[in-house]
Amino acid sequence: MGTFTKILVASVCVCFLAVKWTAPAFDAESLRGARVLVTGASSGIGEQMAYHYARFGAKIVITARREKVLEQVVEKCRTLGAQVALYVAADMSSESEPQKVVDFALEKLGGLDYLVVNHIGLTRVGMWDGNVQHIRWLMQANFFSYVQMAWRALDSLERNKGSLIIVSSVAGKMPSPFVAPYIATKHALNGFFGSLYHELSMKKSNVSITICTLGLIDTQTAMVNVGHLTSIPAYPATDAALNIITAGATRQPELYYPWFTFLVNIMKDWSTTATDYVLQNSFKEIPSSVLLEKNAALASNK
Ligand SMILES: NC(=O)c1ccc[n+]([C@@H]2O[C@H](COP(=O)([O-])OP(=O)(O)OC[C@H]3O[C@@H](n4cnc5c(N)ncnc54)[C@H](OP(=O)(O)O)[C@@H]3O)[C@@H](O)[C@H]2O)c1
Ligand SMILES: *[C@@H]1O[C@H](CO)[C@@H](O)[C@H](O)[C@H]1NC(C)=O
Repeated sequence: MGTFTKILVASVCVCFLAVKWTAPAFDAESLRGARVLVTGASSGIGEQMAYHYARFGAKIVITARREKVLEQVVEKCRTLGAQVALYVAADMSSESEPQKVVDFALEKLGGLDYLVVNHIGLTRVGMWDGNVQHIRWLMQANFFSYVQMAWRALDSLERNKGSLIIVSSVAGKMPSPFVAPYIATKHALNGFFGSLYHELSMKKSNVSITICTLGLIDTQTAMVNVGHLTSIPAYPATDAALNIITAGATRQPELYYPWFTFLVNIMKDWSTTATDYVLQNSFKEIPSSVLLEKNAALASNK
């Protein structure tokens, strides 16, 4: 590493720590009684967020497709201390269901303080196979539904000085191979909500937007689909979930978790040759014949 690069890396680290230290402290009490809607909460990071909100004594509505699983998560939320815990089953790849979920939460909770949009539709892992229909479907599940829900909740969030939390990914900042449709949906999210963030802050809106850039997290979906393909370390879902919640509660515009995703994002454009090298070599193989259970199930759906 040249001296210049070292100085640059050091300054980036100092800036990062400065931002961390000046971030407002998280007050867990602020979540007691808070009205929260979490999507994609039947498993993975969303499920963990539901449990954290429950421990903080929030009133929560959770959603996903599998009713039976949602029922169990809600049950556990109640034992953990949620003031209210309800679920509504919905498919975000439908054009009409996203709004209905928000309406349900607004009605049952009497308003919303947090809308945490986190779900994703099943993604194929492998070389892009020319399937445009799948991209359209995934755009509804991973992007349009987010936009629909945000719009539906915005009035209530405005009245309640609420927060919109968008769970995105390094995939929303930088393309990586074998998940092109997923990358497209996450870039769409970052673009749209990045723009909305400016609009809200320029009109001094009451609503804060937090866009979360996550690295690899050890959820079952991620481990089954990409865990075996990459040497990138996976971080715990429960910790990721807590970081998302505190970033939202302290109204930070962005969260980077784990911390080095911040560096990755800054450094990705320094040298495209270096970035390409690191990215392409972080995969152990080309998953051309990957036909995992979930992908197979998805294929039979379409
Ligand atoms: N895990 C990672 O490595 C990682 C990395 C970066 C970013 N992220 C982001 O973190 C978020 C959560 O990821 P995760 O790993 O926790 O995923 P996950 O465990 O697979 O959870 C996805 C959730 O979405 C729900 N869902 C799936 N299809 C749906 C549909 N059509 N309609 C409504 N709900 C649907 C699932 O429940 P049902 O099956 O019951 O519907 C589940 O509750 C995503 O936004 C993801 O992009 C994850
Ligand atoms: C913004 O929030 C305050 C309460 O903090 C509320 O009195 C005001 O009406 C809100 N503004 C709008 C436009 O809803």
